[in-house]
Formats: sequence, C-alpha cells, structure tokens
Amino acid sequence: MPSHDHKAVDLVFKVLKWYKPDVIVNIGDLADGTGTSRWADGTTEEVFAQAQAESQEVKDYWARVRKAAPNARLIWTEGNHDLRPFDYVDKKAPALKELITPESLWSLSEYGVEYLSYDMPPQVAMGDLYVHHGVAVSKHAGDSVRSDVENWGVSVIRGHSHRMGTFAKTWEMRDETLWGYEIGHLMDESKATYSQVHNWQKGFAIGLEEDGKHHIDLIKINSDYTCYVGGKKFAV
Ligand SMILES: [Fe+2]
Repeated sequence: MPSHDHKAVDLVFKVLKWYKPDVIVNIGDLADGTGTSRWADGTTEEVFAQAQAESQEVKDYWARVRKAAPNARLIWTEGNHDLRPFDYVDKKAPALKELITPESLWSLSEYGVEYLSYDMPPQVAMGDLYVHHGVAVSKHAGDSVRSDVENWGVSVIRGHSHRMGTFAKTWEMRDETLWGYEIGHLMDESKATYSQVHNWQKGFAIGLEEDGKHHIDLIKINSDYTCYVGGKKFAV
C-alpha cells in the first residue's frame, strides 16, 4: 500500500471469507514506505501526509482482515519496504528509534497481528514449511525461492519477487524433498514507475497442514479478476 490493486485485494478477501483460514500471513511489503525511501520526494508536509495516509491504509487493511477472520492468527512477515521507516529513523534520528515502531505506526496489537522482523530467519509456517518475505531475487519465476531454499536448507514460502512459481529438489536416498513457493503479488503495475518491465504474476497462496506436512496451492489471479480454488470460481 498505497500501490496495491484494489480489485485483486477484494478477490483475496472473497476467497478468505469462503476458506475461513486459521492462520493468515501477509508475506510483507504491505507498506510501501514511499515517504521514507531513498527516492522520497516532496516537501516535509507532503512526505508526512504520504506517510500518514499509508499508515492509515495499512491499519484499515488489518481491521478488514480481523473483521473477515475474527479468530484467525494474523502474521506479517516484514518486507524490505515495510522496514523503510525504521531504517530512516535509524539513520536520521536515532534518538527517536523507540518511538517509531511497527506498533506506533500500525497499531498492530489492536488487530492482534504478530510482526516478524526481516532480520529473523524463516519461521515455521505450517508443518515442514517455513515463511519469510524472501531474500534472493532472480528475474525468472521460481528461481528466487530456489536460492532461498538452497541457502536455508528448508522448504520456504515467500514473496518479494512479485513472481509466482514453485521449486522442488529431491534427495531420493534421504527420502526428502524440499519445496519452495513464490506467491506472486497484489500490486497495481501501473503504479510501479521504478521499472518498465513487469514480468510479474498476480496471485496468492492457500494451504493446509496435516501430519506435520504442508500442502500449498498457488492461486493465480487472472486479468479479468477471477481465480479458481479447488475448481471453484471466484470473481469480483
Ligand atoms: Fe520485498
């Protein structure tokens, strides 16, 4: 936010209300941090207004999630955009560091959101699957998560690349397969003025855990804002 695709987000909420998940993870880069990025532009008043509007949009988003899923566990894995305000204060006003926090910006305790720092290693998401915003970036879908899986040595689900893809590697002698999932993005590409080529895929993921094993479905959002979950069609 604020460069999200409103219709794509509406579609995710439609699926969310139907699927009724126990756990909802926002994979990060939820808050763009435009006003505190190194490309920030404008007067102090303009940048402040931008930051304030963004903060409100993020709060409204979590309020909407909480309303749609009153009892779900909510997790936000911090992305490199989300941490921009904290980096900014770190560099320019370290004395105020304790004042500018995820809680002070986004009132996360009000919505019961757990915030996982980008600096943390991946955390267990479901069974044998770990979640993180993602570190490596490749221009090929599925290739970014390949690097993260190989570096961390566990199955990983992540965002960051804006691409959607799956990676798997099997060691037959060990009877082991590691999986990697890149889950796409929910951005309005027309607002991505920083790049001209958007080899990106819009979408999200759903999953479940059984007997300590994870099962993930990547759900692609079509250009007419439809998607299919287990053969059921959703549209906005
Ligand atoms: Fe990112």
